[in-house]
Amino acid sequence: MSDIQEKVDQLRDELNHHLYRYHTLDDPIISDVEYDKLFHELRQIEENHPELITPDSPTQRVGSEPLDSFEKVTHLLPMTSLGNAFDDADAQNWLDRVIRRLPDWYDVNDIEFVVEPKIDGLAVAMVYENGTLVQAATRGNGRIGENVTANIRTINVVPLRIPAEKEKLSPPERIEIRGEVYMPLNAFNAFNQQQLQKGERVYANPRNSAAGSLRQLDSKITAQRPLSFFAYAIGYVEGAEVRTHGDALDYMQALGHPINSDILRTKDFDEVLSFIHQWMEKRDQLDYDADGAVIKINDLTLQKYLGVVGNTPRWAIAYKFPAQEATTKLLNIEVNVGRTGQVTPYAVLEPVNIGGVTVRQATLHNFEDLAKKDIRKNDTVIIKRAGDVIPQVVKPILDLRPDDSSPYAPPKQCPCEHQTPLVQFGEEVAWFCTNALCPAQLIRQIEYFVSRPAMNIDGFGSKIGEQVAKASLVQDIADIYFLTREQLLALEGFAEKKADKILEAIEASKQQPFDRVITGLGIRYVGSVVSLFLVQAFSDIFALQKATQAELESIDGIGPRIAESIVEWFSQATNQAVILKLQKAGVTLTQSTQPTENQSQVLAGLTFVVTGTLPTLSRSEAKALIKQHGGKVTGSVSKKTNYLLAGEKAGSKLTKAQSLNISVIDEEILNTLITKDS
Ligand code: IVH
Repeated sequence: MSDIQEKVDQLRDELNHHLYRYHTLDDPIISDVEYDKLFHELRQIEENHPELITPDSPTQRVGSEPLDSFEKVTHLLPMTSLGNAFDDADAQNWLDRVIRRLPDWYDVNDIEFVVEPKIDGLAVAMVYENGTLVQAATRGNGRIGENVTANIRTINVVPLRIPAEKEKLSPPERIEIRGEVYMPLNAFNAFNQQQLQKGERVYANPRNSAAGSLRQLDSKITAQRPLSFFAYAIGYVEGAEVRTHGDALDYMQALGHPINSDILRTKDFDEVLSFIHQWMEKRDQLDYDADGAVIKINDLTLQKYLGVVGNTPRWAIAYKFPAQEATTKLLNIEVNVGRTGQVTPYAVLEPVNIGGVTVRQATLHNFEDLAKKDIRKNDTVIIKRAGDVIPQVVKPILDLRPDDSSPYAPPKQCPCEHQTPLVQFGEEVAWFCTNALCPAQLIRQIEYFVSRPAMNIDGFGSKIGEQVAKASLVQDIADIYFLTREQLLALEGFAEKKADKILEAIEASKQQPFDRVITGLGIRYVGSVVSLFLVQAFSDIFALQKATQAELESIDGIGPRIAESIVEWFSQATNQAVILKLQKAGVTLTQSTQPTENQSQVLAGLTFVVTGTLPTLSRSEAKALIKQHGGKVTGSVSKKTNYLLAGEKAGSKLTKAQSLNISVIDEEILNTLITKDS
């Protein structure tokens, strides 16, 4: 082998390994910059020696030439679907049917079950030959699917070559891995938001979004979509022995495939049911849409014996979670003015219970989408709620539309008393009110400024925000610091105690760290995480104010869109006045208390896992904070974990940490750890 070929192989192995550590284990061991360096080195060599490019090279994850159509693929073994159970009795009936068909050489007490979440994405089958991904196909009709290999290659958690893990495991000659391609909820929400801003198609749910993204003829588009994958079965394997479904999961994991971490193996069917009920309770906390749980018989010999009826196997059943859709009446279409002035429509609904939550309002995304779906006042509409996703109006039921209905006419002006004409920018579908004095925007800005991720002013709720804005006591967020006792007492519902408490909380918030102040300013695209990046790069607000677009873009994590938004915000005279007022009030506008060098070392060498709902930080903020202080954050608890940072409603990670004797800490203890050495 030539030296150059050897170098290329080595770089690919290394890159694959780091991709696996980063995306599948959530436990990177090199920085992004170091990764990029290796990547560019490989790309450079491939550019000079195009004959060395192979489809499994990490450089090929960016997508390849668009196709005219997808090639058809006949599955060697059909991809079946699953029978459904809707309650415990259905599940018990399924088990009874299994028991009735049990061969006499099998003891009922030996039946073991595996329970997995049923992820709502789309099924794919991926074939690896001698460790290289050679084909990936969608389920299609179960027998014939579509060849989406180029698109699957762009999904970072899917190994292009196994073993990605560098285990001393030689890859099987041929294996078909089956699993679900899905879009994580956070990624879906962010992606839809981005689509909205670009004036492009918004997807109704993560499933459609995953399907739409995977079925792109141009794989370069798929490469930009935040898709992920869980492996849940081996279709067939040559050159390895697998006896149980549990073995199959372990084996796929050893080959470098992502396996869901919340899987139960047990012989106790009551435990199966209670595990599923726990799932139903916590489904909203997951970062993916699960529409049920799948119960499988663990023993593959028994699976085979039980076989398939029609196109559903007898050895497995999907226990579906209660529907997350409901029908209700749309009472009115109203508009909301956001803190950046963006005006968006939403539906006021006759209250309806969806999966245990009463829904009174639902998003209508934007005026364009609303017009396309032709949703009208007094329509009967289908509402969908899924996980963390804001409830949305799916569509009207046309048969139930009243005769006298007429299409919705979008507003031309801001709904506030100034009635400023709304405008659009560039290609964006969004409409804006650009009046700097718009009270509707101000109320939202105040709400955001005092909220938990920002200045966290205790007791200062939305109602007070509205009161002080309407009474013109506050004309911009900085005015909050100049509110007097007399002014508050003049407002409805204020007694002395309440006024004093609010004033104290306002005073205390002046000590909030610099990054929270930046968050509170409400600059478009600048939330708590970006704010943390900014305070690391700029020691005070005036340095940030002077920063150019190029300087901002040179910061890790800040792209052109964010940079432009920051420059634009600081260029406005009204905003410059806000900064001066905040300075006068004595709000923290510098990062001097904790020099970055010290800060970044306090947690060095420690590995954290974050779970549950924390009192003030979101999980991503907590992770950013830990990383900022030199700590490492991983996705799952293992012996290597030093601390589990747990909030309310912590689930299986907490149990696991306790069983491994890992220190469980709360947000307060994290804060002491961070401030201890500084
Ligand atoms: S097993 C015969 N396991 O559900 C077994 N399926 O209705 C076939 N799905 O098309 C699948 N999560 O797309 C299995 N943990 C899981 C799953 C799962 C989601 C989907 C899959 C399949 C459909 C069956």
